[in-house]
Amino acid sequence: MTERTPFMAGNWKMNLDRKGGLALAAELRDRVGDRKDVEVAIFPPAVYIDELARALAGSPVRVGGQDCCEESSGAFTGEVSAAMLADSGAELVIVGHSERRHVYGETDEQVAKKVRQGLDAGLDVILCVGELLEEREAGQTQAVVRRQTSEGLKLVNEGEMARLVVAYEPVWAIGTGHTASPAQAGEVHSDLREFVAGLHGAHIAQSLRIQYGGSVNPANVAELMSVPDVDGALVGGASLSAEKFIPIIEFDHA
Ligand code: PGA
Repeated sequence: MTERTPFMAGNWKMNLDRKGGLALAAELRDRVGDRKDVEVAIFPPAVYIDELARALAGSPVRVGGQDCCEESSGAFTGEVSAAMLADSGAELVIVGHSERRHVYGETDEQVAKKVRQGLDAGLDVILCVGELLEEREAGQTQAVVRRQTSEGLKLVNEGEMARLVVAYEPVWAIGTGHTASPAQAGEVHSDLREFVAGLHGAHIAQSLRIQYGGSVNPANVAELMSVPDVDGALVGGASLSAEKFIPIIEFDHA
């Protein structure tokens, strides 16, 4: 079986100011050291990417954007293009986060274009998918997650799949303290891998990293990571302090 390096990503959302972000980055830089058995990235607000990427230069902690525009340039007030993120030192971008889909009304179509923009700008892309509570209760989890995945990947070719990560984030688990159980996560992750195998072939699906996201914390990370198809975590609240994020990064000896 393909060895998939665990990937722990910290989505800061609209939190931490310059001083707080730099302090956290310095601590991550010191404490992550040069570990190669786990990949780590932080996703600060776009205005701080440049400074944080510089602060983390030479460290294995990578910096990414939380979103990008689906267009490459032009009259899109307030938007930031994927190329601008890359120009500021970002190496990755999160696309299709549930807050973008559900608070800002992003469609599958926009998400697909954003994925394309990210890849075109040379960024690795984390594509987020996940069902609402009412969709889960209506038995639609598999259909929703499969649709968001196939739509999100529809402009991606096979050769680019190595630069894609999928994050399964059940919307009801984000910021609520209600984590999916390992069995719930495992069911969706293995279905997703099988689904991607159908789209792109077994080899690509075996190499694809699928993160779990939604109330991941130091106390539940090891159990989630013990699920065979869970390859990392996309962490919101618990990524805002070294005290919580470091034990998540070190899950294997937590
Ligand atoms: P949470 O957020 O860890 O605070 O639940 C996860 C996310 O939105 O990526």
